[in-house]
Amino acid sequence: MRERPRDPETGLPLSSILPGISPGSVDGWSVHTRALRERQAGEDVIVLSVGDPDFDTPPAITERAIEALREGHTHYTPAGGIRPLREAIAESEGRRLGRDVGINEVVVCAGAQNALYTAMRCIVDPGDEVILLSPPYTMFDGVVGSCGGTVATVPLQRENGFAIDFTKLEAAVSGNTRAILLNSPHNPSGAIAGPGEVARMADLCKANGLWLISDEVYADLCYDAEFVSPSTLPGMRERTVVIRSLSKSHAMSGWRIGWALAPEFLAEAMLDLLNHALYGSPGFIQHACVTALTADIGELEEMKNAYRARRDIVCDAFDPIPGVEVVRPASGLFCILDVSAFGTPTMKIAEELYAAEGVSILPGEAFGTEHDSWMRLALCQPEPAIRDAAARAARFFSGLTMAEPAQQKAAGA
Ligand SMILES: Cc1ncc(COP(=O)(O)O)c(C=O)c1O
Repeated sequence: MRERPRDPETGLPLSSILPGISPGSVDGWSVHTRALRERQAGEDVIVLSVGDPDFDTPPAITERAIEALREGHTHYTPAGGIRPLREAIAESEGRRLGRDVGINEVVVCAGAQNALYTAMRCIVDPGDEVILLSPPYTMFDGVVGSCGGTVATVPLQRENGFAIDFTKLEAAVSGNTRAILLNSPHNPSGAIAGPGEVARMADLCKANGLWLISDEVYADLCYDAEFVSPSTLPGMRERTVVIRSLSKSHAMSGWRIGWALAPEFLAEAMLDLLNHALYGSPGFIQHACVTALTADIGELEEMKNAYRARRDIVCDAFDPIPGVEVVRPASGLFCILDVSAFGTPTMKIAEELYAAEGVSILPGEAFGTEHDSWMRLALCQPEPAIRDAAARAARFFSGLTMAEPAQQKAAGA
């Protein structure tokens, strides 16, 4: 049990769960926060540190929200979603996954983040362990911690395309393990777990009586390979929670709608929890989401193509920069820049790059202090801004000295 934080003035205690939310000592987001503030103030800043789509939500969706407001969808709604939205999700997810999805498996939440938290809260007790594959999406640790759970971390094999190391994964399973959290397509690397990996992961969960929480928020943004959801494998629908949202694929991050697909027993528990924690999401937004999932919206393919093109531009524009290696992502909104050649922690690089050139790129340390040799660049700016950022970054990095071994490698020794 962690110590309860206390109000310094009154001594009144808060929950001992709180220190588990943000235990880290490094604020990996400090450059990003500053960049947003300075961009707002009109400064010449390029923000490539966050995966918030720069596109506007497609107009058909926005128009439907306005219409639904005028129709009076401004009242309470059932926790877990209005029936037309749950039906639309069941239908579209059924199509994506190639299996039947019942509406009782669908739980509408306030974004994937809320779906993740709600599922975790229903599964994890204090003392339980959840296995994360590292680097994990920056919020995963805090979600587990805020449910009183502890995290067991298994590194992905960076040198091997971020493949899962099953020897280490199997060794990490203990009597306290309750769930494995798989995020594929993966933030930050964009790697997609192959069918063989997904099948092995499924077998591991079945053999050890574990839940599999499968965060699939980037599944609609696969460029080079398709993603097989573990929930489609035999015996897995019963133990998999699929986490999804419209934030990325539909440029709807600010609408705060996502969902979980869960076996009915868990879905009912989530509804009960949401009833107490959220009490329903706005009706007019949910009606707009029905349109998002059922109308033929051409912008979705256009946005996906634009992200793919930006991915290629980043690979071409950043990779010639001496000392910077782009890890080409197969999916998603991010590229990893390997800057290990400089032998300098990425927090320092991010601060100096921003101070010198006004380009904000997220340091790896935002994912944990051990991730200090790479940075994450988001593809959420138009092409000219990405090219401009690459030119500025080239100027900045040309002034940095590479560490000795990297110098020798660059010189062909
Ligand atoms: C892997 C992953 N899961 C969940 C989320 C949260 O998404 P949402 O906006 O739907 O809450 C994000 C957002 O960046 C993410 O990258």
